[in-house]
Amino acid sequence: MNTILKKCKKYKRSGLPTVAKRVGLYPYFNTIESEQGPMVTMSDREIIMLGSNNYLGMTGHPEVKRKTMEAIMEFGVGTTGSRLLNGTFQLHATLEKRLARFLGKDDCIVFSTGLQANLGAISALISPNHEEWVLSDELNHASIIDGLTLSKIPKDRKIIYKHNNISDLYDKIRLTPKGNCLIITEGIFSMEGDISPLKDIVSIAKQHDAMIYLDDAHGVGVLGPNGQGTAAHYNVSKDVDIIMGTFSKSFASCGGYIAASEEICNWIRHKARSFIFSASIPPANCATVLAVLDIIEKDRFPQENLKKVSDRMRKGLVQEGFEIGNSTTPIIPVIIGDDIKAFKFFKKLFNRKPVGVFTNPIRAPAVPEGRELLRTSYMATMTPEIIDQALEIFAEIGKKMKMI
Ligand SMILES: Cc1ncc(COP(=O)(O)O)c(C=O)c1O
Repeated sequence: MNTILKKCKKYKRSGLPTVAKRVGLYPYFNTIESEQGPMVTMSDREIIMLGSNNYLGMTGHPEVKRKTMEAIMEFGVGTTGSRLLNGTFQLHATLEKRLARFLGKDDCIVFSTGLQANLGAISALISPNHEEWVLSDELNHASIIDGLTLSKIPKDRKIIYKHNNISDLYDKIRLTPKGNCLIITEGIFSMEGDISPLKDIVSIAKQHDAMIYLDDAHGVGVLGPNGQGTAAHYNVSKDVDIIMGTFSKSFASCGGYIAASEEICNWIRHKARSFIFSASIPPANCATVLAVLDIIEKDRFPQENLKKVSDRMRKGLVQEGFEIGNSTTPIIPVIIGDDIKAFKFFKKLFNRKPVGVFTNPIRAPAVPEGRELLRTSYMATMTPEIIDQALEIFAEIGKKMKMI
């Protein structure tokens, strides 16, 4: 038998997913049978949704839906091609201009996903033979890690610094030549919801003439005066060279982007393979993002309510005795420290009757071993009543499992 097929057959027979299914602990690919609001229907039951990145609650906003449908009626449903050739519609150009302005940058490029933005931009910017160095936070997202792998940067010029640890970053950057470094960090870290010390990173970058690449997938929409993200939150947008983001979270759609200077965007636009060799996002996705921008540029209510409900849950979880790390954002981890226990907790929350709670069980390598957790996240459209109900369920199951 072909070795590839042999490997797949073996995995199907006895791999971890099969074993987890056999013992009733497989937690993935659960089907959502309704719109993704604070309450969803899953397995024919009402479930409180604490496992979505729909931070601003825009996936079901009537105005966003209306404008998205109008774009379908005017431009059709697909682009059938890459931006470079036949996939650039007027709405892509409008969206890029609008995002650049929103983020305080000269230019912007829209990719088909955030993952593709990181793969394409990082591998295009870093060349293996130009004496370039990268300093990357140890908890950066998989798409950053893979972008660096694609760049073929030699191992000794790819330096991983301790998570959010400014003195480690400083010690490590000092050993590299001035003017050759790119520092890569997330704004809000995706698994534990802690914010990077961007102001300190900017000051180190200035001393060392380094550039900064900020993956703000979770920060844009959430932080900053009108949701412009982590750089705006710290008032350092001008000092962050490249801001990467996604449409799959606060912007309630699918797609990704890079915002930067004209020179950098021009380079990426002509060198990023994940941009050049992949079809562009449909016009409807552009219209969704533009509609969300229209709302958040005028109205701070979604952002403010998101903060209120997240803070309420955070306070409640701490009072109940759960360990929640250093989150100050709408991503709140409940740290379990063991994957089987995390899966069991997930299942009990999900299967609870009459109302269950959906969370995201996270195991290594997405978090370091021993840091396995249930990732919970919140929406601007949640009410205090929903939060209190979720909290009650967490406490009920947590006590039954002797976790608190
Ligand atoms: C920090 C971070 N960067 C990039 C991505 C990729 O974004 P997308 O879902 O648009 O591919 C994600 C999404 O999981 C993320 O959390």
